[in-house]
Amino acid sequence: MRRSLVVGNWKMNGTRESAAALVQGILAGLDGDIADIAVCVPYVYLESVGNIINSTRLGLGAQNIADKASGAYTGEVSASMLAEVGCKYALVGHSERRTYYGDSDASVAARFVQAQTQNIIPILCVGETLEQREQDQTIAVVNEQLDAVIELAGIAAFNNAVIAYEPVWAIGTGRTATDDQAQEVHKHIRSYIAAKDQAIAEKIQILYGGSAKPDNAQGLFAMADIDGGLIGGASLDAESFLKIYHSVSK
Ligand code: PGA
Repeated sequence: MRRSLVVGNWKMNGTRESAAALVQGILAGLDGDIADIAVCVPYVYLESVGNIINSTRLGLGAQNIADKASGAYTGEVSASMLAEVGCKYALVGHSERRTYYGDSDASVAARFVQAQTQNIIPILCVGETLEQREQDQTIAVVNEQLDAVIELAGIAAFNNAVIAYEPVWAIGTGRTATDDQAQEVHKHIRSYIAAKDQAIAEKIQILYGGSAKPDNAQGLFAMADIDGGLIGGASLDAESFLKIYHSVSK
């Protein structure tokens, strides 16, 4: 049985003080070891938040990671730096990175590989735009995004990785994929991986992201191939993030 995982993505929000208060609120309500849980924090707060959640069940994650190991890459933060402050996870290929900052499939694949060099678990985000969905390209787009990483990292690398399906049209829009729409793509992703490695497909956690909220999380998480969520807006409030966490049923 796969263990579920609920990850908060704070994006570019908060202050040092509000970040501390938010994780303290989450820790205070974190009863029952029902699933894995983590927060992806802005770079500059990783260390202060890490000091608070150190040796708790709440994992630390970064929202991005450099595609190179070190050197003259102004503005980037390397995997070894993130490992040093205690990151367990790093998002790679979030659609906001792909859309606004030009993170290409190739650079996303390189970021994925860099994370694993430091035992950081990459959370690979994939998903189609509204236009691509309307043109029936969802599966092709997701395959292409997966292929770029599989080609560079090899399928075995997915032993230590998480996939997040995030339809771009559902992120921050209040328009969630229906349980069935999400399940359909999750099932496809799992079978696509299974065609290359059955054992990895059975154990890999595939998260749903895109306007997941306390009132729709339970239905989504009940679907056979949805192993938790990547939560943006609703993770900025301890109570709603915990409600989502407690919606995990498996
Ligand atoms: P949202 O964001 O929950 O605010 O839609 C999800 C994400 O971008 O990871």
